Amino acid sequence: MKNDMRQLLHLEPKSGWLNDPNGLSFFNGKYHVYFQYSPESAYGDGDKCWGHWQGSDLIHWEFMGTAIRPDCPDDRNGVYSGCGIVKDGLLNLFYTGNVKEDGDHDYVTSGRGANVIRVTTADGLDMSEKQTLLTNADYPDFCSCHVRDPKVWEENGSYRMVLGARTLDDKGCVLFYRSDDLAKWSYERMMSAPDFGYMWECPDVIELGGKRFLSISPQGLEHGETQFQNVYSSGCFTLEETLCGFEEWDYGFDFYAPQSFTAPDGRVIFIGWMGIGDIPYSNLTAELGWQHCLTFPRELSLRSDGGIYQRPIRELNALKQRPVSFTDGKPLETQLPFYLASFAECGRFSIEFEGILLMSFDNGIFTLEFTDKQAGGGRTVRRVKLDNFTGLEIIADKTSLEIFLNGGEKVMSTRFYPLETAVTLTAHGISGSVYPLRGMEVR
Ligand code: FRU
Repeated sequence: MKNDMRQLLHLEPKSGWLNDPNGLSFFNGKYHVYFQYSPESAYGDGDKCWGHWQGSDLIHWEFMGTAIRPDCPDDRNGVYSGCGIVKDGLLNLFYTGNVKEDGDHDYVTSGRGANVIRVTTADGLDMSEKQTLLTNADYPDFCSCHVRDPKVWEENGSYRMVLGARTLDDKGCVLFYRSDDLAKWSYERMMSAPDFGYMWECPDVIELGGKRFLSISPQGLEHGETQFQNVYSSGCFTLEETLCGFEEWDYGFDFYAPQSFTAPDGRVIFIGWMGIGDIPYSNLTAELGWQHCLTFPRELSLRSDGGIYQRPIRELNALKQRPVSFTDGKPLETQLPFYLASFAECGRFSIEFEGILLMSFDNGIFTLEFTDKQAGGGRTVRRVKLDNFTGLEIIADKTSLEIFLNGGEKVMSTRFYPLETAVTLTAHGISGSVYPLRGMEVR
């Protein structure tokens, strides 16, 4: 069957452009996923708004349209990224109101306003009046005018906010603020790390098993063979008195600006943008009228070595159909979407998606390489180091792959554009099962 390029397991707009997930929350019995949305253009032009999906179980969703638009002086050039937190029966949404002044500006040291704005809603849809909480004048003197992407959480009876920023001497950092009422905020401290890029976007503080992490999406890191391979990166530090031990969230071509929230059952759920700004490759859906999707939601947990596991949320199980096995050397034709799993240790293997791409593990390196230019939209090769190999899971949707290695110790996400929904897999040195998947329901 011809691939119509519509995702079945990933939230994507019917038309227009999507980037970061925003305001992730569970409120009034529903999950809410807001997102950076340019409804007028698949290339991200026009008004930058928040779009909105809601649903009761993470696999049935309803598109609720545009939730917040740039319609006041303090956000006139874009309703940029932010978060959601529930207090006193209201969902409080915080975002950056982007302002670009007319005139001769570099928009780094002058000409840009970055306002922290709050709206509240009793149903996730109807928004209160916008309230500007912080403006450029409220940020420390060492900041450029790039300060954005508030993430708010509760801690010991009061509230904390972290913002991403670029200093005047071009260092990425985060700013921490504190509040008792979500309205009045006071600056507490900044944190940064040596030689770690010029701007940190979309920060998040994540707690797992008593250990804290600072997630950031840094820009300006030096690219390597097996790390920081993309134009911009995304990962997390261990957050103590200082920041240490950065690990990338995802080693594929398409992952950026993730956000976490806590589900009612205590799981920490994590969703990223399956895309990155300013990429040197393309997405074939853009010419069809839409571009980008979110990752399938992931559950985070603490590893015994202090790192983080990312696994597809267990709700995926409800979409699995009867599996077929794949064995060494025998081609298997299967329909997208599917889930593939293999859990045997091995030192060397490969899986080919015929005429599309090859994934392989050899010499302690897992490699994902496109063998067809068109199917990759210009994507080439990505690598990740693995001390040993203990297992592989893949969520393959109609135009994306998420590859979870060693139970989610390392992850690789990529978009891909097969012309047909049937793909032929040939494995060498590895065997396992392929489960055809039913799609999520998105209305
Ligand atoms: C990250 C980002 C954010 C900003 C938003 C604008 O992708 O650049 O820093 O708030 O996108 O759409």
